[in-house]
Amino acid sequence: MSASTITPSARTTREQSASLAEAVERDPGTFRMLTGDRPTGPLHLGHYFGSLENRVRLQDAGTDLLVLIADYQALTDRSASAGLPEIVIGLVADYLAVGIDPDRSIIFAHSQVEPLNQLLLPFLSLVSVAEIGRNPTVKDEVAASGSTAISGLMFTYPVHQAADILSCRATVVPVGLDQLPHLELTRTIARRFNERYCPDEPLFPVPQALLGDAPLLLGTDGQKMSKSRGNSVPIRATPDETARLIARAKTDVERVISYEPERRPEVSNLVLLAALCRGCDPRQVADEVAGGGAAVLKAAVTEAVNDRFAGIRARRAELAADTGYLRSVLAAGNERARFVASDTLRTVRELMHQHY
Ligand code: TRP
Repeated sequence: MSASTITPSARTTREQSASLAEAVERDPGTFRMLTGDRPTGPLHLGHYFGSLENRVRLQDAGTDLLVLIADYQALTDRSASAGLPEIVIGLVADYLAVGIDPDRSIIFAHSQVEPLNQLLLPFLSLVSVAEIGRNPTVKDEVAASGSTAISGLMFTYPVHQAADILSCRATVVPVGLDQLPHLELTRTIARRFNERYCPDEPLFPVPQALLGDAPLLLGTDGQKMSKSRGNSVPIRATPDETARLIARAKTDVERVISYEPERRPEVSNLVLLAALCRGCDPRQVADEVAGGGAAVLKAAVTEAVNDRFAGIRARRAELAADTGYLRSVLAAGNERARFVASDTLRTVRELMHQHY
């Protein structure tokens, strides 16, 4: 994420998000939450502490949860890959292993939900080309892709994301700062549709962004943790793989370990990871390791990760052995998402006088 994606409204959004978080805590059962991940690889510890843990907590508290696998959006990262089915089914295994309950929550892939995709057309009519072109996240993504030719899909994907969110009439969308421009566009589309076609009885709730308050976990190289940078620890990693990944992590030349995120980002990030896994204060971890240096710190982090994820990993291994079951979970989720989106599309068509 570059600085350009942090919009001037980010501060107010933060305040709104904080009061939204309180409202969700108070009354979790009155919200419908949509979250989404791109199927580019297995989910990692950054996803877990930044988002998954919270999704499961809110699900268990009674929030209506939909989890979207953004497989069309993955096309904007790279062209269609033969490995996609394994990645998608692997995501389903990750979700179930961490506690997303397919009986209560809906896990679906947006390519499989035709009425959701159909909503892209009416929504495109509500935004201008200039508006999409100003979207800083699209600009960043285009720059990051290193490509000069922007596909129509990449250009319009914020509108497609609006279709994701509005097809199920979600009210809460947990996102990172880089996604705020998309959510802003979704809100604009919801308002415009309501004003134009149903001012007296608005169809779409205007969804709100829920920014995570979890401290940001960096990758093993001190950069943003990302599946594509190869600097992440996958949830499903074995204890040995975990040890190898942590052993590679960047530290610094100071012997005594401390927790100073600003001054010592790499070391502090390892301290934070151990603390998140153990559910304790990072300073406690730093004090324990202290003069032991980086080697002792890495051993402590490895142990903390392996302990914390042992149960999840065992569950995941069991699930991964039964791909038939994982496919059936996804198929059932797709079916339920289709049902919800069909209802929205039917109403949209009626309101647009497309009923003959
Ligand atoms: N754009 C999101 C990302 O890059 C993924 C996503 C697609 C999403 N559709 C969504 C997130 C709907 C929230 C809601 O990570």
